[in-house]
Amino acid sequence: MKTLVVFYSLGGYTKYISEILAKELEADILELKTKNVYPQSGFKKFFFGGKSVIFKEEPELTNEKIDLKPYENIIIGTPVWAGKYAAPFNTFIKQYSFEGKNVAVFACHIGGGADKCLRLIKKALKNNHFIGQTDFVNPLMKNKEKNLRKAINWARSLTF
Ligand SMILES: Cc1cc2nc3c(=O)[nH]c(=O)nc-3n(C[C@H](O)[C@H](O)[C@H](O)COP(=O)(O)O)c2cc1C
Repeated sequence: MKTLVVFYSLGGYTKYISEILAKELEADILELKTKNVYPQSGFKKFFFGGKSVIFKEEPELTNEKIDLKPYENIIIGTPVWAGKYAAPFNTFIKQYSFEGKNVAVFACHIGGGADKCLRLIKKALKNNHFIGQTDFVNPLMKNKEKNLRKAINWARSLTF
């Protein structure tokens, strides 16, 4: 069974967890990249990222088209943006079908909105089989080791 970890990460937290999961699950990994890069610091980071989710933007991705057919299992990782999933997933979800896949989702955040974000992303993905969800609070900043163990344990708990 092939597994793919797909993530978007502006500040590196979701990337950190995604890499742990991919290693533990011996999965392929895909980092979504946008053509127009979001500002990475200060007010602009929150303004442009926030605007992007509020207006349901579909930022152009620079990733090559990927064939999801060989993957039975897909893990999706997103930062929480204004209580939602990051806008690059608007584009990704529109481009790809998740039908018949085993899907697990996780979110990184600073303390609010993860449940709503995960609920929304699950709603946006259609006709698949959800096998798990979890979240991490800024995992590189706080409790890095604890979050590493949490990610490994979560990966091991997923029954595909
Ligand atoms: C535009 C924007 C909106 C955010 N909104 C929230 C939020 O609603 N709740 C929250 O807990 N964190 C929020 N955050 C913080 C990020 O979710 C958090 O720092 C996350 O760990 C970043 O992951 P990354 O480093 O992979 O980008 C927001 C960050 C950005 C840039």
